[in-house]
Amino acid sequence: MTEPGSLRIELATRRETMRLGARLASTARAGDLLILSGDLGAGKTFMSRAIARSLGVARDVRVTSPTFTLVHQYQARIPLVHADLYRVGDAHGLIELGLDELRAEGALLVVEWGEPFVAELGGDALVVGLVLAARGRLATLGATGPRSAEWLSEIAKLQAAVRNEGKHE
Ligand SMILES: Nc1ncnc2c1ncn2[C@@H]1O[C@H](COP(=O)(O)OP(=O)(O)O)[C@@H](O)[C@H]1O
Ligand SMILES: [Mg+2]
Repeated sequence: MTEPGSLRIELATRRETMRLGARLASTARAGDLLILSGDLGAGKTFMSRAIARSLGVARDVRVTSPTFTLVHQYQARIPLVHADLYRVGDAHGLIELGLDELRAEGALLVVEWGEPFVAELGGDALVVGLVLAARGRLATLGATGPRSAEWLSEIAKLQAAVRNEGKHE
């Protein structure tokens, strides 16, 4: 579903997952759509929490899994909407949640289990797939439209800068 040009990032530790979350947050714009995919326990909610903290959601505000509540909203640098569509069976159930409207109003929409619903969520998604690896996790990032492709290339540039820094150490 994503276009060519995907980016693979090794996340050997939780800290590296948090760092990628911070990068996603610092490069996100109002109205962006981020899809987090991967099995149960892959780190989707953990990544969402890192994004929330980096966007400025206060420490005393709990950022929990929306598995049963479906949608959580937070005040932040960009209003954040965190959804989990695992229990949403079809597009009809999704429409009732009004996520595409929140996005159109300028929220950053972070959606776990959202890959089947990219079109209904307004399209043009940055898709981050997380899988367990020998050390930690492996993230694969792909884009489904022009804005997400631009977002992805910004992340790629930041990643390359970090790798170069490492070489000079
Ligand atoms: N890079 C990593 N290496 C090891 N463990 C990680 C890494 N990133 C996240 N985790 C852990 O993976 C677990 C994932 O849980 P969670 O985020 O609830 O998964 P999901 O929402 O995908 O079901 C968390 O307990 C977190 O500490
Ligand atoms: Mg989760």
